[in-house]
This record gives sequence, structure tokens and C-alpha cells, in this order.
Amino acid sequence: MKYFDCEYEGKVTKHTSRKIQSVLILFIFGFIIKVYKSKVLVSLMQYCFMNIVFATNNLHKIEEARSILGKNFSLITPREFNLFEDIPETADTLKGNALIKAQFIWQRLHIACFADDTGLEVDVLNGAPGVYSARYAGEQHDSRANMVKLLKELEDKRDRIARFRTIIALIIDEKPFFFEGILNGKIAEHPSGTGGFGYDPIFVPDGYDRTLAELSPEEKNLISHRGNSLRKLSAFLNHYKK
Ligand code: IMP
Repeated sequence: MKYFDCEYEGKVTKHTSRKIQSVLILFIFGFIIKVYKSKVLVSLMQYCFMNIVFATNNLHKIEEARSILGKNFSLITPREFNLFEDIPETADTLKGNALIKAQFIWQRLHIACFADDTGLEVDVLNGAPGVYSARYAGEQHDSRANMVKLLKELEDKRDRIARFRTIIALIIDEKPFFFEGILNGKIAEHPSGTGGFGYDPIFVPDGYDRTLAELSPEEKNLISHRGNSLRKLSAFLNHYKK
């Protein structure tokens, strides 16, 4: 009987101390999350998947990258680490700008990350607008104004050959790697279509008689410059992981 009491008391004490332990663990865990929110998030996610940060807050690009990289990778955005700053694109090449954006993330988070930069190159304009595609008509980054300006420049030109070029810069284990994707085509006489973004309404890909803005998102992703560079990135990462 005495023995039973002791055992019972022991169980109660054990049970109570377990409870205190759990509350303490929860309290410490909560405190760490509160103070080191982004670092805890990174460590947790790194434990579960291969994490990679895409240095963009553009939803269209994030969706495209997620669908191409697949479920082997957990794609995280700067926003999830409370990084909302606009990363300055001060280089005069696509490769330079992509690297600046990837380095910006790497220096802050030290996890695998990549960034892209895209330009529309028109042969008869010696590759313009190229690296300045976003601000072709001014610093306000107005897609409509950019298209109007480009159509004006090409008004009397018969040669309308152009291409989209995307460069992705990846930084992994402190080393940079680059991937290029190209979509060849020509500039239409007038804008048409309502899909896509940027110069899509005036870009007709080779082999098509519609502009990118007239294709479905799936059709565009299959042939797009960014899609092509992302597929190269995906092949590299899948190989790198092994
Ligand atoms: P970013 O480097 O992706 O920001 O692109 C630079 C400029 O190219 C932006 O002004 C976009 O409007 C344009 N651009 C990039 N990708 C595309 C695309 O897939 N279709 C049309 N325009 C694009």
C-alpha cells in the first residue's frame, strides 16, 4: 500500500514537472520566434526542404517559378523575411543586375537565392531597349508608355526582329551561377491582346501569329524566355542536390 502511494506520488510529481517543462519549452520557443522570426523560419524550412529565395515580389514571376521548380524546392520570397526594399538595378547589363539582386538577398539571409533580369532587344535599334526595358519611356516604369515609344521608334522600319532575354543569377554555397533564356520573335505593328504584362501585346513569338498577350499563361510559360531560364535553373538545382 505504502509502495503504491509512493509510486502514485512519483507519477504526480513527474507529471507536474513534465507540464512545467512543456510550458517552459513553449515559452522559450515563442520568445525565440518573436525575436528571431525570420532566422527561425529559415532554419525550420531548411530542415524540411531545399529552400531557395527568389529575389522578387512579383506574383506572376513567383507562380511561374513555383510551377517550373516543382515540389522538390520550397520557394521563398523576400517579403516572407520582411524584406520589402526595392533592390537598385544599377548595372548596365542584365547579368550585372541579376547578380546585384541575388547578392542583396545572399548578404542578408545566407541561403540559396536567385534573381532574374529581362530585356527586350530589337535588332534594328542595336539591342535597345535591352537592359533599360522597364524604364524605356522614363523612370515611372509605365508599360503602356514603353510600348508607345517603341512602336514610334519602329514606325517606318520593316525589320522588326526582336528577342526577350532573361538572365538568372543563382548564388548557392557562396558561388554565383548564371542561366540564360531567350524567346525570339518580332514586334507587331499594333498592340493586341489583354493577357500577360509589359511588352506582351506587341511581341509575336516565332512560329505564332498572335502576340504573347493573346496566348494563355500556360502557352506563354512553355516558350517564354523566363520559363527557359527557369528550366535550366531547375535542371541545375536537381543535379546539384544529389
Ligand atoms: P524585369 O527584369 O523582369 O523587371 O523586366 C524588365 C522589363 O521587361 C519590364 O518592364 C517588363 O515589362 C519587361 N518584361 C519582362 N518580362 C516580360 C514578359 O514576359 N513579357 C513582356 N514584357 C516583359
